Amino acid sequence: VVGMTASGVLHAQGIIDTIRSRGELVIATDATYPPFEYKKDGQIIGFDVDVATELARDLGVKLRWIDSEWAGVLGALESGKADLVMAGVTITEERKTKGYLFSRPYFLSGQVIARRKGDTRIQKPEDLKDKIVSVQQETTGQFAVQKIGVPKDHMLKFDQIQDGLLDLRNKKSDACVGDLPTIKAILSKGYPEIELAGPVFVKENLGIVAWKTHPELIAQVNRSLDRMMAGGAYARSYPQWFEE
Ligand code: ARG
Repeated sequence: VVGMTASGVLHAQGIIDTIRSRGELVIATDATYPPFEYKKDGQIIGFDVDVATELARDLGVKLRWIDSEWAGVLGALESGKADLVMAGVTITEERKTKGYLFSRPYFLSGQVIARRKGDTRIQKPEDLKDKIVSVQQETTGQFAVQKIGVPKDHMLKFDQIQDGLLDLRNKKSDACVGDLPTIKAILSKGYPEIELAGPVFVKENLGIVAWKTHPELIAQVNRSLDRMMAGGAYARSYPQWFEE
């Protein structure tokens, strides 16, 4: 956007001004990811939604979500369809090299292995090498499974982690790898035949994402996160979504 300043000089309007004059902060997500974002009675709710609500409040604007499949969520930044992505996204060096800017970490997460109850063949990451493993595609779960050395044709990739867990339940795969909080949240809603096969084996930090041309937006997000963490808004939301 090109605008006229008081001094009469033409210049590109900054992203924060654009958001303020638009009156809304647009955030892309994949709302199939409890407890971070998921739909209930047609409404998107979750921990990320609570955090996003505070971000919008600090900017003095409304909040609008763009909900799409995970595989397309980050792409909404480069195309300018969204200002930010909040989708339980892990901060990775690889993503930084692709042009994504991350906020300070706002959540500590990590990868876990889910197995059918009592399947003691699967105890630790190396046990997956000769098994069939399901993952949500293009996630750090997939990258962790690749790093373990599971051959490509032993990995089943799904659009949603729920489908990976169903596949495990249906015995089409032996294990499913993904983010601890989300797998826990899904299992607690009716997968009595699935259990975790051990603790987190890769620790990860989650961050809020912007496109590389918008460092001032990330600075603003970081100020909001600092305020939430110091002021109690973060601590009030957290226990509603995560058990200790
Ligand atoms: N934390 C993982 C990653 O960043 C998975 C995120 C998937 N999020 C989602 N809403 N489907 O790769």
